[in-house]
Amino acid sequence: MCGIIGYAGHRPAVPVIVEGLKRLEYRGYDSAGVAFIQHKAMHVIRAEGKLSELECRLNGCEVFHATTGLGHTRWATHGLPVERNAHPHRDPGGRLVLVHNGIIENYLPLKEQLLKKGRTFQSETDSEVLVQLIAELWTPDISLLQAFSEALKHVDGTYAVALLNMDDPNRIWAARKSSPLLLGVGVGENFVASDIPAFLGYTRDVVFLEDNELVELSPMDWQVYDTATLEPLEKEIHHITWDFQAAQKGGYRHFMLKEIFEQPTVISNCLAGRLDAKNRTVSLPELDNLDIPEQLQIVACGTSYHAGLWGQYLLESWAGIPVRVEIASEFRYRSPIFKPTDMILAISQSGETADTLAGMRLAKEHGVPVLGLCNVVGSSVAREAASVIHTQAGPEISVASTKAMCSQLVLLTLLALYWGRRKQTLPQHVESSVIAGLLSLPQILESELPRMRSTAQELIPEYSTARSFFYLGRGLAFPLALEGALKLKEISYIHAEGYAAGEMKHGPIALIEPEFPTFALALNDELLSKTISNLVEVQARNGKIISLCHPGFGLDVEHAWEIPQVYGPLNTFLALPALQLFAYEMAVYLGKDVDQPRNLAKSVTVE
Ligand code: M6R
Repeated sequence: MCGIIGYAGHRPAVPVIVEGLKRLEYRGYDSAGVAFIQHKAMHVIRAEGKLSELECRLNGCEVFHATTGLGHTRWATHGLPVERNAHPHRDPGGRLVLVHNGIIENYLPLKEQLLKKGRTFQSETDSEVLVQLIAELWTPDISLLQAFSEALKHVDGTYAVALLNMDDPNRIWAARKSSPLLLGVGVGENFVASDIPAFLGYTRDVVFLEDNELVELSPMDWQVYDTATLEPLEKEIHHITWDFQAAQKGGYRHFMLKEIFEQPTVISNCLAGRLDAKNRTVSLPELDNLDIPEQLQIVACGTSYHAGLWGQYLLESWAGIPVRVEIASEFRYRSPIFKPTDMILAISQSGETADTLAGMRLAKEHGVPVLGLCNVVGSSVAREAASVIHTQAGPEISVASTKAMCSQLVLLTLLALYWGRRKQTLPQHVESSVIAGLLSLPQILESELPRMRSTAQELIPEYSTARSFFYLGRGLAFPLALEGALKLKEISYIHAEGYAAGEMKHGPIALIEPEFPTFALALNDELLSKTISNLVEVQARNGKIISLCHPGFGLDVEHAWEIPQVYGPLNTFLALPALQLFAYEMAVYLGKDVDQPRNLAKSVTVE
């Protein structure tokens, strides 16, 4: 994970870099650092902990005028999250510094070779090995560009890496392999960074770097090369239409809260352009040329995996397509059986999740087409899939994913409708009802969200002492139960288990006692009576219950949290924010760091 940024321009570099790091801090926040060259000396300033620690350290320093520099925010992989392992790392000669996101898998043998050559190391990181290797290979008869390229040939693993050279203070070299890296093209200034928001305040012109590409940039110039051959490459500049405001908190206390409240707009944006002129049928032109799969294998992680589980129900029942949903980190190391008529659907907000990418690459090796469902334009999933459906959620900054799941669910609904119509397995009246329901959702949700938040706030004090929670649901509510539990775990650090309500009696029910509450998804669907039976079993063991339910819910529980009822599966779009707000308010009440929960990072680009 980690976030990197490089700036070569006309402004004082340090504030630009620190601002960029703030937008990348979701990628890791164990330590942070900057490097720049001033008065012919290389300055490296680093601090353990969040970026604010680095800012405190920088505030105590002299004013920096350097107009080129590097920055890094770390999610520790190799070595403790302490200052000596913070980036940038330098070679002992002090001429080169480097920032790195990824993992150098063969760093130990490389380190041994360098130790034998008399080099000494200051950190336990794999990244320091890389800067020392470049320095070792950089002899007087070759350029730094050549040494950089040569060093990368020795490296196994993943990297987005940027390099600064004291003898050429206004130039940066950067390269990528399986970790995200973009070039931001400005006027008299250029950027490299792990993600677009890092430089969105300065430019929206972006070059998406591919694997095995290396870029050299200065304030006025940039050139991309093939990393191995150093052959210059032509690259296209893409103009990003995101609003800078979309990557800001906009008056909300946390990004997570802002993103939960953005869901009505996200639904509208996901529908825009995806319905025919009369709003009768779904149009997904990106799929018109793809055969409908005989079997779909969905590969994803975390929240995106839960979205896939939810989509399975609709794709099977509306489109009659058998669907398997796979946790990507398991799928990639099994020997999955592929048929030529299969299709892989890779679901990923970031489009950079290492396991999901590995799963889709495995399928590609077997000649199976991959469809991406992805939020980040230009990300690896988007670029490597045969076709992509973009989820239009806008930038999601909070580590806990919220609006991205909402967008994934809208698109999965549209996909099931689209394939159902093409296969003629879906009655027209269902498609019309779903579309009408989707179109009315943003308004209903918009007016409901403040009330939901208040309900969550009212419930929290009573449940804040619980050390464990069950989340129970059946059918479409089962993936929601998993998601509710994941949200609570990741931001409030309360243990929570999401379970299929009917599976409780096969073991977990043993855990029920008054201090182990259950959050039940008891929505008014065809399985409600079964869910109620399971809840009665919980009550018989003195378990306390919060029921997310519709008006008329018959069971007497500790807290019946009523939400308005809409059409069939679309009730999910009102249940999901309730789960998110419950977790959010719990984390706030317990004083946890909502947007940057411990041990996590937004995009998991390592295995
Ligand atoms: O970017 P992706 O959708 O591929 O990310 C997958 C998971 O890492 C992500 O959903 C994670 O579980 C979130 N922290 C959940 O809130």
